[in-house]
Formats: sequence, C-alpha cells, structure tokens
Amino acid sequence: MLPAMPGAEAACYHQRMEVLSRQTYLDNAATTYPKPEAVYRAMDHFAREVGGSPGRSGHHRSLEAGREVLRARDAVARLFGIDDPSRIVFTKNATEALNLVIQGVLTSGGHAVITSLEHNSVWRPLEAMARAGTSSYSIVEGGPDGLLDPSLIEEALLPSTRLVVCTHASNVTGSLLPICDIAELCARRGIPLLVDAAQTAGRYVLDPVGTGIQYLAFTGHKELFGPQGTGGLYVAPGWEVEPLLYGGTGSRSESSLQPDFLPDRCESGTLNAMGLAGLRAGVGFVTATGVDEIRRHEGELFERLSSGLLSLRGVTMYGPPDWESRVGLVLFNIKGLTSSEVASRLDAAYGICVRSGLHCSPLAHRTIGTLENGAVRASFSYQNTGEDVDCLLDALSDICRSR
Ligand code: ALA
Repeated sequence: MLPAMPGAEAACYHQRMEVLSRQTYLDNAATTYPKPEAVYRAMDHFAREVGGSPGRSGHHRSLEAGREVLRARDAVARLFGIDDPSRIVFTKNATEALNLVIQGVLTSGGHAVITSLEHNSVWRPLEAMARAGTSSYSIVEGGPDGLLDPSLIEEALLPSTRLVVCTHASNVTGSLLPICDIAELCARRGIPLLVDAAQTAGRYVLDPVGTGIQYLAFTGHKELFGPQGTGGLYVAPGWEVEPLLYGGTGSRSESSLQPDFLPDRCESGTLNAMGLAGLRAGVGFVTATGVDEIRRHEGELFERLSSGLLSLRGVTMYGPPDWESRVGLVLFNIKGLTSSEVASRLDAAYGICVRSGLHCSPLAHRTIGTLENGAVRASFSYQNTGEDVDCLLDALSDICRSR
C-alpha cells in the first residue's frame, strides 16, 4: 500500500519509482549490487542485536562479535579450500592485502616482476618504493587481447627477484592470466607468487593450495557479495607477511611487540565485524549457489552481450573473444563517442550503470591500445539477467543510431 499523498507528490513518487525500477546495474566489477537479501539481513542483525567489539572485551556481545568474525574466516577458508582459517587475514579491501605483501616482502629491497594487466593497487606501491630507492620492478607485457605468455615472466626474473605479482583476471579486459603456469615457474625458483583475485573470487574456482600460490589477495565487495570495506589475504603456511599497521589486536596486550602469529599479526585495530557478518552471508550465497553455476550464468550473459555488440555498427570490443579465456565483463567503445559520453548517456537516459575511463588500470589500457580515451565496461554478477543485457543492447543500439 502506498502512503496517502497529494497528487503532485504522488506523481513525482511514481516517476521516481519508474526510474528506479528500470535501473540496470552493470558495474559489478567495481562493486556488486544488489547484494543477496541475506547480506543486508546479516549486517542489520549485527548492528542491532550483536553490537560488541570482536576479540576485545569478555562480555557476551563482544564474544558474539568475535564469533561472527570467526564464522566469516571459516566461510572464506572453506570457499578457497584452505584447511587453516588463521591463514586468512582480513583487510579493508584487496588494495590493502596487495600492499601488505608488496611492502612487506620488499621492505629490505629486492626486485619484483608484475604484468602489464595489473591494477594501480599493484603498480603504485611498487613505483613509490622504486622512487624511494627501496626496491625495483619489471613489467611483463601482455598481448593486445589482454592475454599473457607465462614464459615472459620467467625471462624477466632476476637473481634479486623476491616477488612475482599477477592478477588472476584483468578488471579491464576480463582476460584470465595463466596463474597455474606462473605458480609452477615461481616454485622452481623459490619465488613467492602474489595473485590478485579481486575479479575472480566467487566467480571462478580458486584453489590457492593446489595451485601453489603463496599469497592470494581478495576483496569482499565484488563477487563474494559482501559490503565495501571487507577483503583479505591468504598467506600459505611457511610464508610470512610483515604488518602494514601496528597496534591493538586484543591478544598479547602486555607486550610492546606485535603478535608473531596470524591473523593477529596483521589485524591491528577493531575489525569491521558488521561488514564481515555481511561477507559471511555473501560467501554463504556463493557457496549455496555454487561457483560453477555462477560461472555458467555469467558465461551466458557474456555470450548474449558480445554477440549483440558484434551486430552493432561502430562498436569495438576488447579482450579475448572466447569465454574460456575470460570472466564476466565486456569492454567496448563506440566510434565517434568518448567512453564517458557513452556511460553518461546510458545512465541519464536509460538508467544503466556501467564504468568508463581507465578503471584504475592504465597499464592494462596501454596494453590494449585504449590509454588515450579509455573504454566502456559492462560487468555482470550472478544477480544480472538476460533482460539486463537486452536493455543495454537496446540502449546502445539507440546511441549508435543517434551518434
Ligand atoms: N577496481 C575496481 C574496478 O575495476 C574498482 O572498477
């Protein structure tokens, strides 16, 4: 039932509802929306009914908050096939997890190898450390389709190489990188591999233990369906990581030294327990749905969008054309329009949310030749439908006609 309201106000309400109801959200590579209902409920429950600080005080609210964090850690560990949940450190996002390793491993110098598909969350800390004279790095070039020949990584290794960093899937091209081959060649040289799983966690089966990955950085707010402000790092047994932040952990409080065990060593300050309650519910949704089913669904959406785009005149698509080599995002441009013009028109006239520009990954845009103008990115989650894809295609067809 609508609340009683005067005529003009009701008209305005209906107009707004119409705009909202035809909203099509295709910016899931930036953050997923909407979240599964259970995620909203879990955070609401935490905020209203739990409310304590995790791992700090001894009262029941604090203990329950601590249990929420443990349950989230267990859920993430199970999803990634990790036996010991204490090897998962919670951070506020993938960027923090990547910085933890990059700054931690290279703190006393050395060389890193990265790919030209990396996000600024990898490039910028390495560039800052190089400018400070702390460490150095080399960039291995991907191909114009965003794929990477793993043998180029091997060629770039130096005697001083202490770390290899590779994204699992590019947030620009959607291309999957050969992390299994890279893990193998790193293992032969005893060099740890840091994988950025921001675009794959929850939508592609991850097996860091079987693959031989030493560090896996993930975000909570993309396809794990948690809220923003959640993320983490898996650290393989036998590998260490230096803290980025020092402070209270609720453990070994008598000591001036940071605890030497994970996850406490790298989790100073009150954790985002409400967010982690939401993350646990999001991971629960992924687990119940099945990562294979999520991938199958996104593959269908990809095929529908890419075949539709191919039929539009003046559209250029980037990234590998086959689903096996990529994840659920599509990057494109329309001849004669800038990427931001296309994205603004989609939003203002059709209620469609996509992301344009450089996606915080100028290296990847340089690799595929779109550095100057960027490109438009439409990205899926399991919550999208074929109807969402059709709305986008109809809108793009209009835009192409009225160029
Ligand atoms: N890295 C995120 C994106 O690709 C925010 O949009």
